[in-house]
Amino acid sequence: MASILRLKDIGKVWHIERTKEQVVALGGISMEVEQGEFLVFVGPSGCGKSTLLQIIAGLEEAGSGTVDISRSADGQKQTGMVFQEFALFPWRTVLENIVFGPEVRSVPRAQREVNAQKLIELVHLRGFEHRYPHELSGGMRQRVALARALANDPAILLFDEPLASLDAQTRKVLQAELVRIWQETKRTFIYVTHGLDEAVLLGDRVVLFTARPGRIKEIVPVRLPRPRSITGRGEVELLEYLSEQIREEVERSLKAEGLT
Ligand SMILES: Nc1ncnc2c1ncn2[C@@H]1O[C@H](COP(=O)(O)OP(=O)(O)OP(=O)(O)O)[C@@H](O)[C@H]1O
Ligand SMILES: [Mg+2]
Repeated sequence: MASILRLKDIGKVWHIERTKEQVVALGGISMEVEQGEFLVFVGPSGCGKSTLLQIIAGLEEAGSGTVDISRSADGQKQTGMVFQEFALFPWRTVLENIVFGPEVRSVPRAQREVNAQKLIELVHLRGFEHRYPHELSGGMRQRVALARALANDPAILLFDEPLASLDAQTRKVLQAELVRIWQETKRTFIYVTHGLDEAVLLGDRVVLFTARPGRIKEIVPVRLPRPRSITGRGEVELLEYLSEQIREEVERSLKAEGLT
């Protein structure tokens, strides 16, 4: 398999002007991401997962190191982002939200609307095209956010805890939907979550981060057939392993800070 993204020794220090504080968020991240893989990031709160996604997306600069994304022949946008809070435009309908990116890129109207209709089909939002975000449930809003990110046809989709604010039932439905959409679109997904069960259900590989400054503690391949079930034997064993690793990391960082 070809790699689509290569991270080399990515470091990041945040400087907080007001308090003159320096926060070392990332301490040297190197890894390769395969074309079409579903990669999941897990790690203690504050270990730099969101920071790393922002760097991959080009929204923040790395302090050191390089991000190398393979260019597609047509020069399309390389990354698209889906956040935990629904970053939709409240004054635009579902359809208008989805066509926003293509509109900015001056894609002809007919073409962007045909494409948007396909995406509405893909994320199962048929019949809701003309609703405003506040007229939708949380789960539906995340479907719109996903369709909007896909409308830019990015090679890599970045997800920052996209299901975290949804109820358990909706989350379960959308987890299965995400796997289906990933399989249908054959995109590369990089997905941050605190849900270790979610990591086991979704990932081809799970990247475990250390406590801040975030480093890669271990990359765990998930060799379990899909569709997965959280009660399956392999799934339960992996979940226990990941829980133990995170617990160890959180305890280590609390000790280092003298909090235990
Ligand atoms: N814009 C910023 N300015 C200053 N410090 C920041 C900024 N963004 C993040 N940080 C700091 O960098 C560190 C890593 O933050 P980040 O949000 O990347 O962690 P995270 O792993 O996503 O955490 P969580 O799991 O809680 O979302 C934290 O100590 C945070 O306070
Ligand atoms: Mg975060």
